[in-house]
Amino acid sequence: MTRILQISDPHLLVEPGTLSGQVLPAKNFEAAIDAIIEHLDKIYPVSAIVVTGDISDDGHADSYKLFRTQINRLNLPYFVIPGNHDHRETMRTCFSDLPTMPSGGKINWRHDFEGFVLVGLDTLICGEGKGVLGVQSLAFLKNIVAGEVVKPILIAMHHPPFSSGIQFMDQIGLGDAGSLAEILGDAKVETRIICGHVHNMIVGMVGNTIAISAPSTASTFPADYRDDAPVGFTTNIGGYMLHEFSNGFRSTSIDLACRTGPHPFY
Ligand SMILES: [Fe+2]
Repeated sequence: MTRILQISDPHLLVEPGTLSGQVLPAKNFEAAIDAIIEHLDKIYPVSAIVVTGDISDDGHADSYKLFRTQINRLNLPYFVIPGNHDHRETMRTCFSDLPTMPSGGKINWRHDFEGFVLVGLDTLICGEGKGVLGVQSLAFLKNIVAGEVVKPILIAMHHPPFSSGIQFMDQIGLGDAGSLAEILGDAKVETRIICGHVHNMIVGMVGNTIAISAPSTASTFPADYRDDAPVGFTTNIGGYMLHEFSNGFRSTSIDLACRTGPHPFY
């Protein structure tokens, strides 16, 4: 059994950086790592962590350094893909020691776990909010799907291949979900997509594949589907996800809100 933990969209800025004067992402991320450390012995064993982009808010090397300081506290291997706020080449330099980091091109990678194959796909268009897999990432996935894969495939990418209903985010969504659906349609094994970007846990579909976006550790975008919905975020800190495969993929969302319990039933 392989169980992995997903963290998304920490949007780190080096302290005392604030997001739009409201959120201290470094403080929130440290609190998220504290909560995960506390949770780890209840969800043992966790094989690795995958981080689905917007690690940095400004793509600065110091924010990736800060990320590494925090994530290293978990003592687990981790995998990264870029989001629209990240800087691809700065990430490549700052994470050059990760075995999955390619020396050039898009940050696409594959790691074979006992229970499934984890594939990271780069959707970043430098300097833009919207994303695209493009020829390179689509070909990378197509090769894996057409190969000798007998294990299920879990695909991590930043931009969801479905619309979220949050219009200002859907305007900067994934441009080529149709091409992705076509490739996944040829898969002979079970597939699932995990992503970030929309700062909410949302379940959607691309072709016959379930796709799930993760909450952010930094902020939340309200589920307001009106045409005139205000463009902005709330300071809700979201959470993280767990994914595993056992007779099918199972994905669990864990929120980071303060609470009491568990309380016994009576
Ligand atoms: Fe984000």
